[in-house]
Parts: sequence; structure tokens; C-alpha cells
Amino acid sequence: MIILGIYDDHNASAALMINGEIVEAINEERITFIKNDVGFPKNAVKYLFKKYNINNDNLDFVGVSSSRPSAEQYNRLSAYIGIKDYKYFYKNYYNKKFNNINIFQKFIDKKNYSFDKSLYYHVNKKYNNKLNYSNIAHQNTVRQVFNDFYKISKNKIQFIDHHTCHLSHAYLSKVKKTKGPTIGVTVDAFGDGRNQTVWKIKNNNYRLLADSNQCEIARIYRMVTLYLGMLPLQHEYKVMGLSPYAKKNYSNEIKDFFNTIIKLDGIKFVHRSRPKNMYTHIQENLQNYRFDNISRGLQDFVEENLVNLFKNIYQSTGIKNFVYSGGVAMNVKANKILHQNNFINDLFVPAAPDDQGTSIGACYEIARLNNIKTTPIKNYYLGYDINDKNSNYLKYRKKNFKFKSEKLNTNKIVNLLIKGEIIARASGRMEFGSRSLGNRSLLASPNKNNVVKKINELIKNRDFWMPFAGTICSELANSYIKNPKKINGSFMTIAFDTKENKCNFAAATHPYDSTIRCQILKKEENHWYYNLLMSFYKKTKIPVLLNTSLNVHGKPIVMDEKKALELFKETPLKYLILGNKLLTKIK
Ligand SMILES: [Fe+2]
Repeated sequence: MIILGIYDDHNASAALMINGEIVEAINEERITFIKNDVGFPKNAVKYLFKKYNINNDNLDFVGVSSSRPSAEQYNRLSAYIGIKDYKYFYKNYYNKKFNNINIFQKFIDKKNYSFDKSLYYHVNKKYNNKLNYSNIAHQNTVRQVFNDFYKISKNKIQFIDHHTCHLSHAYLSKVKKTKGPTIGVTVDAFGDGRNQTVWKIKNNNYRLLADSNQCEIARIYRMVTLYLGMLPLQHEYKVMGLSPYAKKNYSNEIKDFFNTIIKLDGIKFVHRSRPKNMYTHIQENLQNYRFDNISRGLQDFVEENLVNLFKNIYQSTGIKNFVYSGGVAMNVKANKILHQNNFINDLFVPAAPDDQGTSIGACYEIARLNNIKTTPIKNYYLGYDINDKNSNYLKYRKKNFKFKSEKLNTNKIVNLLIKGEIIARASGRMEFGSRSLGNRSLLASPNKNNVVKKINELIKNRDFWMPFAGTICSELANSYIKNPKKINGSFMTIAFDTKENKCNFAAATHPYDSTIRCQILKKEENHWYYNLLMSFYKKTKIPVLLNTSLNVHGKPIVMDEKKALELFKETPLKYLILGNKLLTKIK
């Protein structure tokens, strides 16, 4: 049984399931190298079909993780436009009903943002000049794309409810199922008419307990991100990272303001007073407050509301085990507050809880509906494999760019890290989702004073207030990180408090509240990386390596040998682990 899942909106992706196992998943952006590329993931699908010899004869189903069209899909809007454009967009067109694609043309500067960028736009136009924007017309467009470009029968394409995809990703990918019933919670900006759901799950049966289309948490976060001069759908994590610096006394009023928009009614969010235009409403009401206090007020609003939601769910069901996904589950700080409450025993957030993970969720959901036994996802190294079989890359030497290549030696890497060197690693299979988990990472010792500055100047150009993340081996985690419930920390989706007086890895924690968004690594997940961490620990007694994604600021994470070498060439990085080789730049 072969199932393809796609997500075709902002940060599009595709996933392939063979006999119940997700064998590969990839974001479109990694191939096109356009950050958060949006629309039909044609390159990702092509890549999967080629690698696994998929065609109409052996493919059983295609699952599409939403059945409604969006403005982004029809012009690849969010991959191209900037802050100024977003402000224009939200000021003028927020809350409009888009019934026809032509309306998009009115709010987009056609000179700069051509509709030619979107595959859906072209295919739709080819078959229907009216550019009808109904759900059915959109679904026919998607079917037509599969038929035209991949020769896949239209009847194999299924549109799967978006929130059920979020849920199935979280529940069915989880490695250790807890005994008894589980609660599934999804919270996002919007998908197939909803932005919040609550489910009771027992033996793969889902029972909907509540849902809402009035949960504005994600939208409010998005609009505040824009109001603070950052990119919506992308920089929400920066607003979250800013929040610990502000004092509660100064931000309480701001939190109260957000609470005038929505409220919790039992286990669902409802409008208290929904403004017609969310962006201008936020702009008008927050103009006299400072940026850091705004971020704190917002984060407190989110945390308090989520805590109350989960508490109410526990009180009405008596269940303490949760799986949780949707874009709001990307908020690692709120996830930390949740798992620290005593009404939660277990909280699982999958590696890509946001929309990009719904391609995986669509595969799982089709399998579940067809009673196909599925395999959980042990690790998220689900992408392109850099190994020494493709050693042609060593020919990649250009003018002014020479490097020596040697067999990888863990001890040598440890010694370089101790000296304060930054090591890039592009080796093994690429991670799926936004988090680098060691295979497409920049690694550094987290106890060097200047390491943050050094990484920023070398490559990352990260905002001055933002923390870096880190990896710790599972057998060391208990000594350094507060995680008494053994919450799954494999995927950097949950933050933890660090143990006081034991933190000699400050550069991998938040500089103000000393929390860590860490990857708690089990040996079976990544042998080489685990051994590196343990060797580093044995020599230094530092249990953590700073781990940040291998990309240039604003660009996607590198996928293959070519992109890794380009990054190596274009940045002042001195060391790159590529496959099983260590490359050292020669000046
Ligand atoms: Fe979503």
C-alpha cells in the first residue's frame, strides 16, 4: 500500500508512506531554495516519485491535507512578499471574502507579484478562464495537476480534513502510546473551516469533543508579529523569544487587551468581541506600548489560555495524556508551561506540528481510515541522504575556494569544538521540518563566551535577543534538565527549565530565563551524533552541544552536497563535515 501526502500552502511539503511506514518526507523549499515555498509541492512530489519509482500503477492514494483554496496558493504569495506588502495586505483586505481569484489581483502589485509563479493559477486558467474560487473548483484543479504532470488518476486523490491531519500526525507518529484513552488537541490559524479541535482517542478511534472556528490565538500572534516589524508566518518564534525580557507588571494590561478578543467557553474558544480588522485593531490599541512588553503580554495571554483549555479538558474527561499539534504547538515556551502543570502526565508534540507536517498526517489518516497498521516515526531523518556514495562533490573546487578532505575522526571534532571552532555538519538523512537535529546543523561548544557572536558573524546573523538551541544525550538529560515526567524531547518542540548551578552550557539556553529548547537525543536515533556528544562530555563535563540549523539567515536549510558546499564556500566557515569526511578550508 503506497500513499502520498501533500500539503500545498505556506511551507509546502510531501510525504510518502509505504506499507504503513513514512519512508520519506520533504519540504518544497529545500529543493527550490525559496524559504517557506508555497503552493503545490511539485518538486517534492517529483523527487519522491523518482526515488521510489512511483507511478499510477503502484500508487494507491494521494491525501491532500486541506480541501479549500487560499490566496497564498494561487500566487505563492507568502514566499515572496515582505513586511511592507503584508502591512498593505492586512490593512486593506483583512476579513474579506475571497470568492474569485480575480480579487487577489486587486490587492497585489502585479508588477512585483506575478501570478505566473503559481502552478495552480496556470492550471486553473488553462481549464477554466473564469478562475472560479470555490472548494470544488479548487479540488478539481489539484486533481488536474496530478493528472497533467504525473499521470495519476483523478479518483486516487482524496481531500482529508486539515485538523484531522494535524491530529493523525501527532497521535499515530508517537512512538510510545500511553495506556488508556488519549486527548488530542489541535490549535492553528485556520484549516478547513476550523482553528481548534479537541478529541478523545481510544484504539485509533477519534471522537470529537469540541471544535471552534473562533480561536484567534494564532491569528493574533501573526498580526502582532507583523505589528512588531517581523514577517508573519515565519518570525512568530522571535516574538516568543523576546517575551522573557519584559516584566509582567508592564505587560498585564496588554494581556488583558488580547483577552477582550476571545474567551474560553468550557473546552472551546469563542469570540468575546472579534474586531473586523484584526491588524488595525492591534495597531490602534498597542501603539502606546513598548515592543518587549507587547511580546510578553501576548505570550502570557497564549500560555494562560492554553493552560485553562488543557485544565478544562482534564476536568471534563479525567484524562491527563495529550497529543498536541497545529501551528500554535510550535510555541515551545507555552508547551513548557503546559507540561509543568499537574493535570498533564504526558504531552507529545510531533517534530513538525505546524502545517508542513500535515502531509505526513494525511498519509496516516488515509491509512487509519483503511485499517492499515502504521509504524510510528522513531526519528525525523526522513529526507535526502548525504553519504559517501555520492563522492563526486569532492570535485567541487572553484577559484578561491580550496579545501582538504580527510576521513572523519570524532576525537578531532571534539578537540576543534573545545578550541571554540564552529563545525558545520551535512551528513546522513536530512531532517523533516523546521528543526535541525544534528544532520544539517552548526555545532559548537556552548560554554564559550563569544560563541554566539561568532556564529552570528560567520553565518546566522540571528537577532540579538534570540537564543540558540542545544542537544543533550538522553542519559545525561535528567542531571541537567527538569523533566520529571519524561516528556518526549526528541524533536525540539518543547522547552525545559535547566537545573540551577549545573548549567555550563549557557550559549544553548535562553540568556534571560535559562530555559532550553533542547533535543534530548537517544542513541538509536543518531549514533554518530550521540557518540560525539558523549565524547565531548567525557572531555569537558559539558553535557550539551549548541545546535542550530545549517542555513544562511533567511534561506532554507541546505539539503544536498551541492548546497552544503555552496554555503561552505560563501561563508567564513572553516570546517564542514560532509558525509563521512571532514573538509577544512584552505586559505
Ligand atoms: Fe493547520
